[in-house]
Amino acid sequence: MTMKALVLAGGTGTRLRPFSHSLAKQLIPVANRPVLFYGLEALAATGVQEVGIVVGERGEQIREAVGDGSAFGLRITCIPQERPAGLAHCVLIAEDFLGEDDFVLYLGDNVFLPGIRELTDAYAAVRPDAMITVQKVADPAEYGVAVNGPDGRVRRLVEKSREPVGDLAVAGAYVFSPAVHRAVRAIRPSARGELEITDALQWMVDRGLRVQAHRHEGYWKDAGRVADLLDCNRALLGALEPRIAGAVDARSRVGGPVVVEAGARIVRSRLTGPLIVGAGAVVRDSVVGPHTAIGAGCLVDGSGVADSVLLDGARLSGVRGLRHSLVGRDARLSSAPGPHRLVVGDDGRVVIGT
Ligand code: TTP
Repeated sequence: MTMKALVLAGGTGTRLRPFSHSLAKQLIPVANRPVLFYGLEALAATGVQEVGIVVGERGEQIREAVGDGSAFGLRITCIPQERPAGLAHCVLIAEDFLGEDDFVLYLGDNVFLPGIRELTDAYAAVRPDAMITVQKVADPAEYGVAVNGPDGRVRRLVEKSREPVGDLAVAGAYVFSPAVHRAVRAIRPSARGELEITDALQWMVDRGLRVQAHRHEGYWKDAGRVADLLDCNRALLGALEPRIAGAVDARSRVGGPVVVEAGARIVRSRLTGPLIVGAGAVVRDSVVGPHTAIGAGCLVDGSGVADSVLLDGARLSGVRGLRHSLVGRDARLSSAPGPHRLVVGDDGRVVIGT
């Protein structure tokens, strides 16, 4: 049985503004690698080889980042979506690519640890018409929710609702048989004008097709908001193999799992892992970590930063006590006593104090 994958990397990324103004949200790095790469690796680990990536406005960036897929052991084809018209719309426009094969539908901003192999194995063992991934969550109102029978067969799917009917959230990895193609053609746009995958699944359920739920017991996060990205960053840093390829001077202290990439320099600083310092970055007279990813070419000078992500080329100077922060590419932050002077871009968010 061949199985393909359809990865969704278009969309608007409203919740990740201002970052998504200039960077496809699936390319925002966590633990210094684009979030999308973890998904592609998870797919490769299932044995999938043929991957279609649905791309939108920032398709060129995605194409450039993933290339032909060979770096992941995959063959990647990009499928342009004219506008973000919904997850089921993505399946509709990928019909020629998918043909009559079963396929994994994977949302490009979702992270699953240790991967989705259990999902594809479970699908292969049961061969239902579709299999969804679910996980128990504390705040079901924020998610699409599945109501299942005792046999794990899905009875009903309910989109984000203030009165949730259960606590099993639908996560961003599904497996479909070709039966889904009729469903995505049959449904109509929702109130928000999108073709919803929830509606396609409900259509299948209503016609007696077998939709099965698979419970993901590991880590799962939809990295659609800053707080979720930082959470992913923590989880992925926890899985890093410590490695010091750059230069750490004798006056610096390193504790816990730390990665210092080649060409990075650590001077008179204290690093507490898990953390990563990207290639060519300089950390000087600073206290960094834990749970921190410093991108390539960053400068952290006389500063203190923990639980944060600095994108490539960001510079901190004299900024103490930075926490739970996401700093964009080439952004500059400096701090001195006295009044504040800020230059904040469109849709930017700054919290001074806590
Ligand atoms: P979402 O995160 O639900 O949508 P979004 O990107 O529009 O985000 P926001 O709500 O913040 O504006 O989408 C899940 C994934 O699917 C994400 O990787 C983007 C992708 N996607 C598409 O490729 N095409 C689409 O039409 C939609 C709606 C999403």
